[in-house]
Amino acid sequence: MNASIVNPPANVWNVEQRVKALLAKMTLAEKVGQMSQFNASEGYAPDYLADGLRAGLIGSVLNVVDLKVVNELQRIAVEESRLGIPLLVGRDVIHGFKTVMPIPLGQAATWNPGLATTAAQISALEAATTGVNWTFAPMMDISRDPRWGRIAESLGEDVFLASEMAVAMVEGFQGDDLSAPGSIAACAKHFAGYGAVESGRDYATTNIPESELRNVYLRPFKSAVDRGVVSIMTSFSDLNGVPGTGNEFLLRQILRDEWSFDGFVVSDWDSVRQLQIHGLTENDRESAYEAVTAGVDMEMAGDSYANHIASLVEEGRLSITTIDAAAANILRAKFRLGLFENAYTDPGALPPIANEHALGTAKTLALQSVVMLKNAGGLLPLSADKLRSVAVIGPLADAPYEQLGTWIFDGDAGLSITPLNAIRSLVSPDVDIRYLRAMETSRSRASEEFAEAVQLARESDVTILFLGEESILSGEAHSRADIGLPGAQGELVQRIREAGKPVIVVILAGRPLTLANILDNVDAILFAWHPGTMGGAAIADLLFGLESPSGKLPSTFPRMVGQIPIYYSQKNTGKPPSPEGIVHIDDINTFAPQVSLGMTSFHLDAGYTPLFPFGYGLSYAKFEYKHICTSAHEIRIGDTVTISAEVSNVGQVAAVEVVQLYIRDLVGSVTRPVRELKGFRRVNLEPGQAVVVEFDLHTNDLAFYGRDMSVVTEPGLFHAWIGGSSTASLRTEFRLVASE
Ligand code: BGC
Repeated sequence: MNASIVNPPANVWNVEQRVKALLAKMTLAEKVGQMSQFNASEGYAPDYLADGLRAGLIGSVLNVVDLKVVNELQRIAVEESRLGIPLLVGRDVIHGFKTVMPIPLGQAATWNPGLATTAAQISALEAATTGVNWTFAPMMDISRDPRWGRIAESLGEDVFLASEMAVAMVEGFQGDDLSAPGSIAACAKHFAGYGAVESGRDYATTNIPESELRNVYLRPFKSAVDRGVVSIMTSFSDLNGVPGTGNEFLLRQILRDEWSFDGFVVSDWDSVRQLQIHGLTENDRESAYEAVTAGVDMEMAGDSYANHIASLVEEGRLSITTIDAAAANILRAKFRLGLFENAYTDPGALPPIANEHALGTAKTLALQSVVMLKNAGGLLPLSADKLRSVAVIGPLADAPYEQLGTWIFDGDAGLSITPLNAIRSLVSPDVDIRYLRAMETSRSRASEEFAEAVQLARESDVTILFLGEESILSGEAHSRADIGLPGAQGELVQRIREAGKPVIVVILAGRPLTLANILDNVDAILFAWHPGTMGGAAIADLLFGLESPSGKLPSTFPRMVGQIPIYYSQKNTGKPPSPEGIVHIDDINTFAPQVSLGMTSFHLDAGYTPLFPFGYGLSYAKFEYKHICTSAHEIRIGDTVTISAEVSNVGQVAAVEVVQLYIRDLVGSVTRPVRELKGFRRVNLEPGQAVVVEFDLHTNDLAFYGRDMSVVTEPGLFHAWIGGSSTASLRTEFRLVASE
């Protein structure tokens, strides 16, 4: 199941020779120039940068997406600087460019890496038309805290799913040939542990034991490095006392020495200078020293490198070998991207923006990302020919910008198909679609329009509420402490319920939300994340049954914020909870003395289960799992065991099921999670159809970092489950025996 290691391209030695030859001609100032990236967003047009470019003092720019400006910057760098070194042009192309795909967390909910590759490829092609040759994506920070605003950009809580999706995205951005038109460099970020910020507050501290770091947080990065990701971005966060941008253990020991990474490392925005603010250094000069020493090759949007590296070398504090290595890492990327052959962009050589393929992919991805959380009485799908009237209510039913989500600098809200528009064009004109926004934003507390909303609901056959969060409520520096539906939305649901008609809620949001307060007041819930440009079209197709929902949660949904962090791959503890062992706060006998004997690990007011577990998602079909088998009951190191089960569609409609394989290593020299995802497959089944789904597990897939931080594969008993979520109950087992 490990990502395959891609061999270096045949011309790699040629690239090394060219890097060496170029370095030999460079002055120290020119080497530092390669290590310096400057912001070139509007207002900083070429004039501002031209002198620096001519003098070879700038290796990269970011945030310029005007093709004329980019080509002109490249022209100055290539034709007017002494050595003609082209520029890396960076941009946050996170989930699309003009065509916006679902947010990364939504993409993870598709469990469809192939589609994520296509989406990243489209995003790369669109971005490349403006001269961008480097994206700051994918973000692969494992996050188990939905309060964190950047969970929207993440690929969820699970190591395996996030690694598969991250590698898929790297493949899409970079393609098979980095130098081909439309291939852009990817950037695995943020190295490392950012997703574990305390209380989900952005930029906060992280404390992660090394075994957890290696077994969880670093693994997607390792997969991306094995796939040849060109760059890695450091994290703003403090990891066990050393901020990511000054963390030699991460950037040298792990990344270079253990993983042999030969791409380059970029700081996060101004995070070199921030080492001082963290309290790690006294001033910018020391920050530059620490960052270079730690292994940060390029400084993003700051001038500490430009101002201080040369004199630090002259003083003998930084060695020229260190600088050469950093500059070489950056030059290597430029050669691999083919920039020395052609630095200019001809948009005519690339497909048009927002073409049919792009919009079609955005729609398919959105379709597959939606997770159906509830469907009482099979209310969904709606049949358009049986309805006379539908009330469409809520602040996100017709909000073209909000459905795009966070990080959409270049997204075109004009292209958005909103749910309201899509529903109107899908149903026949005989169906009366009555729309009321009811709340100005998702955060509004005013309820003046609720009476009208209730009236509308009462007079309609069914109500579809479009609720959730505006795009501004998630993303960088947009963490929340309360992750319920904001504003008066809970009250709106309650009031609509009182109208006595069926209620469907479609939620557009950048994170898992606590939904316990509305769950019993609605008949059906579709959780659509921020679904992007084509989100409305996808949602309408699902509501009216043109497709069945197939998304599965990439993150556990807590009942209450106080349960966070709650994730499926937890440890068992010495006192694991069970349904019989828990007491609810309302049932406690006030006069009983407190005892701890027989007690287990749970919350008096929340129990121990989440509202919806990882991997969960309903379908219009019904799937049954049986006959789980293992190809061998005993295996030895180096063997592969095949775990299989029969999955059948016993429902009435064709649909896709995401079949999931989990294992548990029952005894380890360090305790192992109660379940770990080790495989998944999307399977399309007609009604009545059954298939046997097989997963091959190599013993390497059972390995983990042990007590001494080396990779171990330990003999012992393993349980394996196959099913449609992390609570799958169909189990088999096998034993790994020590080789003689
Ligand atoms: C973010 C990065 C992003 C960079 C450039 C930073 O604030 O943390 O993820 O790539 O800005 O926009």
